[in-house]
Order: sequence, then C-alpha cells, then structure tokens
Amino acid sequence: MNTYHTHVSLSIADKVILITGAYGLIGQTIASAFLAQGAFVILADIDESKQNKIENEISRNFPASQFLFQKLDITDKKSCEQTMTAIIQKFGRLDVLINNAGLDAKFDKESSKKVNQSRFENYPTDLLQKSVDINLTGTILITQYACKQMIKQKSGNIINVASTYSVVSPNQNLYDFGDGNQNYKPIDYVASKSFVPNFTRYLASFYAREGIRCNAVVPHGIYNDHDEAFLKNFAQLSPLGRMCDREELIGPFTFLASNASTYMTGSLLTVDGGWTAW
Ligand SMILES: NC(=O)c1ccc[n+]([C@@H]2O[C@H](COP(=O)([O-])OP(=O)(O)OC[C@H]3O[C@@H](n4cnc5c(N)ncnc54)[C@H](O)[C@@H]3O)[C@@H](O)[C@H]2O)c1
Repeated sequence: MNTYHTHVSLSIADKVILITGAYGLIGQTIASAFLAQGAFVILADIDESKQNKIENEISRNFPASQFLFQKLDITDKKSCEQTMTAIIQKFGRLDVLINNAGLDAKFDKESSKKVNQSRFENYPTDLLQKSVDINLTGTILITQYACKQMIKQKSGNIINVASTYSVVSPNQNLYDFGDGNQNYKPIDYVASKSFVPNFTRYLASFYAREGIRCNAVVPHGIYNDHDEAFLKNFAQLSPLGRMCDREELIGPFTFLASNASTYMTGSLLTVDGGWTAW
C-alpha cells in the first residue's frame, strides 16, 4: 500500500509556537517544555506582573533568539494585531497557535476563596459576560489574527485548550468539602468552555483544504496545591484516583504540535485520568 507520509516525527524543533496565557499553570509548563525541545516560543499573556520572574528563568536556560515575551490581551483587536506583527518581525511565520488563555474558577488553596459561590439561579450575569469575553470571544479573536497569517503561509496548526467541562457537567460533589457549605463550579466556566469542541471542529472543517488543522486538548484537574478535602473528593471521583501532574500534559501537547499528528484535525485529545469515562 502506498503511503502519503513516510516520516512520522514527534520533533517540534524549529516550529514557531504562540502560547496564549503563557504565564499560567499550563502555559508555563508547555512553554518551557517546547523550548527544551528546540521550538521557537512566543509567551503571550495579559498579566505583566508575572513576566519578570518567568523571563529571568527562561533567559538563563535558552538563547534570546528562541523566545519572545509579548503582552497580549486576547479580547483586544489591537493587541492581537501587535502580537502577530511582533511574531512575524522576529520569526517570519507562525506554525502553531495554542489557545490556552482563559478565566477559570479554580479550587486550589490560593484561588478557591475568589470563586463566586452563588447557586446557578442567582449567578451574576456580569461574571458570565467576563468569562464569555475571554474564553469565547477572545479565543476567536486571536485565532482570526493567527489564521490570516496561516492562510498566507498555506499552513498552520491550532491547538485549543478545552476542559472536561467542555464535554460533561461538573459533578458538584467534588466541591462539597464536608464543612456544611456546598461550593459550586459556576456556569460561566462551563458555558464559555463548552464552545471549544465545536469551535475546534468548525475551524478544522473550514480550513481543511487550506493547510490549517485544528485539534483540542481536554485536560482535567491539574494539581496546584489543593487542600486535602478537595484531593480526597477528587481521588474518589476520578478513575485514576488522582489529579493530573502538569508535566503529564507535555506529551499530548507535543504530539498535537508535531508532524506525528498531521492526519488529525477536528479531534479532541482527552487527558483526564478517565474522568469522562464513567
Ligand atoms: N488548571 C486546570 O486544572 C485546567 C483544567 C482543564 C482545562 N484548563 C484550561 O487550561 C487553560 C489554562 O489554564 P491554567 O490552569 O494554566 O490557568 P491559569 O489561570 O494558571 O492561566 C491562565 C493565563 O491566562 C491569562 N489570561 C487571562 N485573560 C487573558 C487575556 N485576556 N489575554 C491573554 N491572557 C489572558 C492569565 O493572565 C493567566 O496567566 C485554560 O483555558 C483552562 O480553561 C485548566
């Protein structure tokens, strides 16, 4: 049998990769791992307060020719445009866009107190709007700018970061810590991330004949200093019985960014320890 492609490579060396939300938990992990594998990486984020520390660390380990730190607000057209201009000036092309920036109601020790704990019927619509602006509209906006460049190149690869809550409902028992106060994973996150799987399929079909492919990673529960009550609930509800270590995302992201996945488009790569399997 004839094959169209004989060389299957997991190498991402020399690929130019834009990571949005690069100063966050997943973004930082993926950025460092990609740099270590020889990729050119644009670390783009709205939160400049985290930049110095991350930039110092990356500068110690990698040459300046390999990375670009870029202030980016994915909800702002001008900022998206400036980001693309800076990328083309420095690297001349964009091979991979990782749509990772997002607003999430998190339950690690530091963040859980900030989550609005209204029940669904009382949840404030201004919070819903904020999540939609970032997770949905912002994701579409930066993708539009990246696609304009990828169309010119006749090649591109988009990786969206979904969530298990893009495909199933939160089990609210995960957020009951036995202290008499039921916590809730709110609707804003679920609503604004639910679009990601179909956005992935939309882009995959829209651009299939233009050399641009699009897939999504579906992570669940990355460990980041959660307290014992949360970890205990999580262990009971998860088939693998534990949260995801951030390092466990490197393989799936590398695979989708590499040419080993060239026949994949419109797919969801689920990395959830079996959460959605039962
Ligand atoms: N952490 C998890 O357990 C988990 C699980 C499933 C899915 N996810 C998804 O993974 C992605 C990254 O999550 P994380 O845990 O690293 O989150 P994080 O909060 O640690 O990082 C998100 C980053 O996005 C940036 N950001 C927010 N608004 C932005 C904007 N308008 N423009 C540019 N950057 C902006 C923030 O400054 C932050 O650095 C999100 O899309 C999230 O929905 C996370």
